[in-house]
Amino acid sequence: MNQSVAIVTGASQGIGRATAIRLAQDFAVVVLAARNSDNLNATAAEVEKAGAKAHVVVTDLSLPDAAKLLVEETLATFGQIDAVLNIAGAVPGIDLMEMTDQQWIQGAELKLHGARRLTIHAWDALKKSRGSVVFISGTAALEPKAATAAVAVINAAIDALAKAFAEKGVREGVQVNSMLPGAILTQRRRAMLEKAAAQQQITVDAAIERFPEKVGIARLGTPEEIANLLAYLVSPGARWLTGTAVRMDGGEVRGI
Ligand SMILES: NC(=O)c1ccc[n+]([C@@H]2O[C@H](COP(=O)([O-])OP(=O)(O)OC[C@H]3O[C@@H](n4cnc5c(N)ncnc54)[C@H](OP(=O)(O)O)[C@@H]3O)[C@@H](O)[C@H]2O)c1
Repeated sequence: MNQSVAIVTGASQGIGRATAIRLAQDFAVVVLAARNSDNLNATAAEVEKAGAKAHVVVTDLSLPDAAKLLVEETLATFGQIDAVLNIAGAVPGIDLMEMTDQQWIQGAELKLHGARRLTIHAWDALKKSRGSVVFISGTAALEPKAATAAVAVINAAIDALAKAFAEKGVREGVQVNSMLPGAILTQRRRAMLEKAAAQQQITVDAAIERFPEKVGIARLGTPEEIANLLAYLVSPGARWLTGTAVRMDGGEVRGI
């Protein structure tokens, strides 16, 4: 029987939630990590409905010891880790000229360092299982803008970090990639569009409707579309795909 175990961070909502539910088709156990326990339990119910065991870990991954404790709890409960999907993220979109040192540090603490720490603590288990890691980055890395500089800088750092882990992983049997979503309609994206709507003095619905045309795509993406790609990246069929930054953005980025 397949006993494989996946850890999904940011599983309480958005892309992480959709990914946890999608991975229930391929993994025996999905470990769900984030801070909001009600939302995590709601995801857990969907994971179990989709056929896998769900295990909830309520944790703030921006804290220094959280990743270590998450790995220890997973190994103590299930004995193995086959995939780590680093999806949790909350980098603030603040103008380059206004963002404070403290905001920069906090911005990097979860998405960059939380994911780095989790991958390091899970590494020995991943070596043993010949497992896979995916880091969520974002297309902002490819087109930095002053208004959201930290999002771009931290995503670019994540793409480089993934490649560094992948270089080690080639020798040690661990597959590592980063994945860059474009504009996906989640609560995070909705909050950004609410801000834009207020600035432009239009309704949120109008901002959501106008956004795709403004950036040259047919529509916003769905968390489920990203979840399908992430599931492929940690599947046996994608095994030789490593050290790569994979983009899915509805055609928004046209650079080669
Ligand atoms: N949506 C997009 O258009 C888009 C585009 C490119 C990249 N991305 C990236 O994709 C990832 C997911 O984005 P999303 O749109 O799904 O965002 P979201 O709906 O805001 O979800 C973010 C997730 O991160 C978790 N999280 C936040 N702070 C945390 C902390 N300190 N410790 C543990 N978990 C924490 C949240 O859970 P709790 O609040 O329960 O802790 C939530 O599950 C992010 O890294 C984002 O940068 C998104």
